[in-house]
Amino acid sequence: MSNEALSNLLREDRRFAPPADFAAAANVKADAYATAEADRLAFWETQAQRLSWGAPWSEVLDWSGKPVAKWFVGGKLNVAYNCVDRHVEAGNGDRVAIHFEGEPGDSRAITYAELKDEVSKAANALTELGVRQGDRVAIYMPMIPETAVAMLACARIGAVHSVVFAAFSPDALRARIEDAGAKLLITADGYHRRGGTVNLKANADEAAEGAETIEHVLVVKRTGADVAWGAKDVWWHDAVGAASTEHTPEAFDSENPLFILYTSGTTGKPKGILHTTGGYLTQASYTHHAVFDLKPETDVYWCTADVGWVTGHSYIVYGPLSNGATEVMYEGTPDTPHQGRFWEIVQKYKVTLLYTAPTAIRMFAKWGDDIPAKFDLSSLRLLGSVGEPINPEAWIWYRENIGGGRTPVVDTWWQTETGAIMISPLPGVTEAKPGSAMRPLPGISANVVDKEGTIVENGHGGLLVLDQPWPSMARGIWGDQQRFVDTYWARFAEQGYYFAGDGAKKDEDGDLWLLGRVDDIMLVSGHNISTTEVESALVSYPAVAEAAVVGAKDETTGQRIVAFVILRAGQEETEDLDAVLKAHVSKEIGPIAKPKQIQIVAELPKTRSGKIMRRLLKDVAEDRAVGDTTTLADSTVMDLIKAKLPHANED
Ligand code: WT7
Repeated sequence: MSNEALSNLLREDRRFAPPADFAAAANVKADAYATAEADRLAFWETQAQRLSWGAPWSEVLDWSGKPVAKWFVGGKLNVAYNCVDRHVEAGNGDRVAIHFEGEPGDSRAITYAELKDEVSKAANALTELGVRQGDRVAIYMPMIPETAVAMLACARIGAVHSVVFAAFSPDALRARIEDAGAKLLITADGYHRRGGTVNLKANADEAAEGAETIEHVLVVKRTGADVAWGAKDVWWHDAVGAASTEHTPEAFDSENPLFILYTSGTTGKPKGILHTTGGYLTQASYTHHAVFDLKPETDVYWCTADVGWVTGHSYIVYGPLSNGATEVMYEGTPDTPHQGRFWEIVQKYKVTLLYTAPTAIRMFAKWGDDIPAKFDLSSLRLLGSVGEPINPEAWIWYRENIGGGRTPVVDTWWQTETGAIMISPLPGVTEAKPGSAMRPLPGISANVVDKEGTIVENGHGGLLVLDQPWPSMARGIWGDQQRFVDTYWARFAEQGYYFAGDGAKKDEDGDLWLLGRVDDIMLVSGHNISTTEVESALVSYPAVAEAAVVGAKDETTGQRIVAFVILRAGQEETEDLDAVLKAHVSKEIGPIAKPKQIQIVAELPKTRSGKIMRRLLKDVAEDRAVGDTTTLADSTVMDLIKAKLPHANED
């Protein structure tokens, strides 16, 4: 990034206030900002009271070991007790915790009382298999209730889980097992996907082969497929099935590790991000309550993320369950057996709160408005988005076509490293602007700075920093604290800021707009231009469903803007489309941001969590061999794009 701050290009004047009845009944009202501002630590201390503690803390925050924080120092709690038992004790044992929907259409409802029994049995089984407080357990599982049970069982006995996304390769799993020194691997025989089954056990076997720390492999039967059986293998239904439902949860120190989660990491060795218990659960619980406005007695909540990502940890398992939510868990893909599957599920369970990703929203827009229109989505009262900047037009599409033009939309910014939501509208308070994550939540402080770390004025862009510690902040990188310091804390060491790695701008009102990863920012004729803004301008053209923009080397302008565009279903690639789209971007944000080259493609390269991999598109745009594609969700995508664009450098 040059010295000049990020250009502030895109203008957005639409505003959406919360519906009056929503605002009146909101869990969190506007006063929360002032309360938190007056005394941040007292505010978080109040939020920690949402949980049940076995022993009180003596100090809210110990920041003397900066950048490794201690929150609720000396306090003791059991995370699983907070997510399960206490709801049963409060008389809510009959409430459904999880409505499981399998891809083939099988379903199961699990009440809090049943969840308590299952978690207790699993905790006993894990103990029986030799797992103790502080031991690491690798969880390589599909989207089935046993995955949540396994995580909670680890938490219940003070063990540290490391969930590895089920679509990761045996090599990726082995590397994570070895890095964490995991003693137990929990997996399944397989799972249902796109109408077929995946043999997960075969991958687990390949990974466990030679992973010397693994003592046992605990296997859930999901598909009933034939699987190879080794000396370390134990069936879940045998070990957990035979265990007692009696298990006394022990209260562990507030800083006892809860989990390690490896970030997808576009480059280099994955980082094992470490989270602990008291502060993490406090913020996961509070933000779930504040941002999703959960009313546990009446709401049905559905987060469509995979448990293999931090979103699944904080907003499928720990946040919602700590709040006593009834939630949906779905095993499969959005287009199996048809492209209306998500909406069929919303209709079936009368989902009220839906949390999904921009990549999914743009895909639904691409498939066509007529698909959600066939289902009754009137139960929905709030929509959330996470994972990438949401283009204003995708935000509007989501609100109109899924939210019936009524629901608040919350664009939530956070990271694996932040543990929980940091920047988001409050749905009953904020007058939302499509495409903006708006303000830091009460108790959170963020800012935008230039390269030197000087705070930029409203109306300018730069780098997003977090300038105050927060309860769910990562406590480090497993086995590599120096890398934790170097990656997040070294850049603005003088100011003591956490460097998030994202570009952002503050608009005239001081509201925050996330502009993508700093590595993706383009430098065109001396202007720093965000890929997000140009992509959003392209997506605001009606025929365009999705766009990815990169800066390719250019002799005269330093970088030139190359755009890859996906059209909506039924849209033809007309001859003048190229000129029309260029003119459209020029009109929306100015001639400086006009792409030099536009390529219509059928798919874009994405990570398995749905983030666009611009690095690979840049390789294509600069006409060189495409780099490492091992983290791609679909490895054939790049071949298709290259085939369409054989000589990208010829304008
Ligand atoms: C990165 C973190 C947070 C859970 C899922 C991703 C991007 C995330 C937003 C948003 C703009 C966003 C950022 C961030 N990101 N949410 N609402 N607006 N960008 O977790 O894999 O750790 O990725 O995702 O670039 O740094 P993650």
